[in-house]
Amino acid sequence: MGFPPRPTRCLRYILTALLLTLTLHFLTASDTIASWVWPLTGANKHPIDALIQAAEREFAAKLSKSTQTLAAAAAAYRKRRGRHPPPWFDKWYKFATEHGAIIVEDFWDQIYHDLEPFWGVQPAQIRKDARDFEMRIQIRDGKASTESDWWWTQIWLNMIQTIEHLLPDMDVALNPMDEPRMVVPWEDIEVYMKRAAKTRRTADVRSVVSDFSPLPPVGEASQEHHGDAQPIEWEHDEHYWPIARRGCPPDSPARLAEVITDFDKPPSIASPFSLAHMRNGYVANYTLSTDFCQQPDLQALEGIFVEPLSTSATKSLIPLFGGSKLFRNNDILLPSPIYWSEEDRFIGAEGASIPWASKHSSALWRGVATGGRNRETNWRAFQRHRFVAMNNASLLAQRADPPPNFALPDKRYALPAAAQADLPGWIARTTDVAFTEMVCLYEGFTPTCNYTAPYFAPVENVPMADMFQHKYLPDIDGNSFSGRYLGFLRSTSVPVKATLFREWHDARLVAWKHFVPMDPRFGDWWGILGYFLGRDREGTADKVGERIALAGREWAGRVLRKEDMAVYVLRLLLEYGRVMDDRREVMGWVEDLRQEL
Ligand SMILES: *[C@@H]1O[C@H](CO)[C@@H](O)[C@H](O)[C@H]1NC(C)=O
Ligand SMILES: *[C@@H]1O[C@H](CO)[C@@H](O)[C@H](O)[C@H]1NC(C)=O
Ligand SMILES: *[C@@H]1O[C@H](CO)[C@@H](O)[C@H](O)[C@H]1NC(C)=O
Repeated sequence: MGFPPRPTRCLRYILTALLLTLTLHFLTASDTIASWVWPLTGANKHPIDALIQAAEREFAAKLSKSTQTLAAAAAAYRKRRGRHPPPWFDKWYKFATEHGAIIVEDFWDQIYHDLEPFWGVQPAQIRKDARDFEMRIQIRDGKASTESDWWWTQIWLNMIQTIEHLLPDMDVALNPMDEPRMVVPWEDIEVYMKRAAKTRRTADVRSVVSDFSPLPPVGEASQEHHGDAQPIEWEHDEHYWPIARRGCPPDSPARLAEVITDFDKPPSIASPFSLAHMRNGYVANYTLSTDFCQQPDLQALEGIFVEPLSTSATKSLIPLFGGSKLFRNNDILLPSPIYWSEEDRFIGAEGASIPWASKHSSALWRGVATGGRNRETNWRAFQRHRFVAMNNASLLAQRADPPPNFALPDKRYALPAAAQADLPGWIARTTDVAFTEMVCLYEGFTPTCNYTAPYFAPVENVPMADMFQHKYLPDIDGNSFSGRYLGFLRSTSVPVKATLFREWHDARLVAWKHFVPMDPRFGDWWGILGYFLGRDREGTADKVGERIALAGREWAGRVLRKEDMAVYVLRLLLEYGRVMDDRREVMGWVEDLRQEL
């Protein structure tokens, strides 16, 4: 988009910035009025109790939308999507119900979020971009295959093979990297979405085509004309924030805030930018908490923004599939290969059913110091480093002002008396958090680094299965999403989840019902610990913790099974098959309506 901006636009930006400042000031001021006093008596509940009640209502409302027949599922589809279901929707429904899937149309929201902009791209262009991408799976005549031997591709191939007989011809381009790839500028997405909106309608039943077009055999370059196709440019800048934020609206805090380049100092942690998704100190809108457009301070608090392990980004919108992404990446989400392979180091199934009562009342975290390329001049901005440091009693006891890379508890979290009297001692008793490797940048990735040695000492790893000896399991992003999340959800422990990454399953999980959400700054960690492990709450809060652990486990057993992943991917690929078909605007499944005619 061209510079310089028109004066009116400039003015609008200034006004928005001003308004933002005022709003934040007001929020901060009013937020102090309600103290997060704890423990509260009588009618006053702890803020977490209120959030849990709201979660119960949200979950019940979600479940109440489940449909029991193909016709009802198709009707729910048309209502929510504004289009006819894709061809072969009946086959999808049969597959889903035969595999015991719960059918709530909202569960597939992510698919529509990811694919909608492609309705604004020419189908021939989508097909070409998929065909040209080096790593792909292709489906012809109901058979999936690949030329790539990369282990992720092989796992994805295995996943797609379980549904290949139900798929039309297509090429599926796959992202081989940990990190997501596409950040199409917000302004361009607006154009695609406007074009897409013009195609959103339920076509006259008599004109609807209920099949997919075949593709030429693999390797036979299509003769199609591609108009003014632009070559795809890949950017490799080490500083990812300036790339990521172009996906944000022009008047968003992320686009307006200054870009930080000096990470060689304690970061600013307490921030008014968290207030939009927090209520009384705790995450109240989990989805919003993952949207960095509202939170420009995160540019100095997350490894991915500071210096990812690898960057290969593009502004082009191409049909590229991957396992996780940031809120504003345009990649199309598949279940991660880690989840499909059910590797023990990520799932730890063996220990997953330890009874609650025989677990330690404590929080455990072990992991590698990933997040990106940590260096002497930037490690303070890495999320895992922040989390490990704030759980180190000896660092807390040093009373550094400011602490090297975290913030002490906000006074409004009225912590248990024991924590108020002796925070380091209390943390030492309730948590066991440490790195297993430091992966420093000098001299290759070494297991220990001289620059972080004063703050961290790597310890022995704890196998996944043994982590479940602890009731609370914080889950912190690494280079991208944390692959343990599914294992944690399936277990009898409580995942305490802080993430900026979106995954295929997000629409089917409810924060405070199936897991405990945590702000990406971790300022609420002390309050969460205080609520669940504060001694004066032993009994009640312990039962609340157990309920979340078991609800998450039970729900994961209903909607996060491999069968559910296959059902998701089948729906996704039928939609993908339609959006890249030249006849997409008249394609659909309308058998239910034909019967009514
Ligand atoms: C969470 O925030 C998003 C984005 O602002 C909003 O659309 C959604 O309604 C919010 N959800 C709740 C439960 O408030
Ligand atoms: C760490 O070691 C590297 C390489 O030997 C050296 O250049 C650097 O100055 C050292 N840093 C500290 C903080 O000791
Ligand atoms: C905790 O902090 C101290 C410095 O106060 C450091 O020496 C120690 O290695 C840290 N422990 C862990 C497990 O990282």
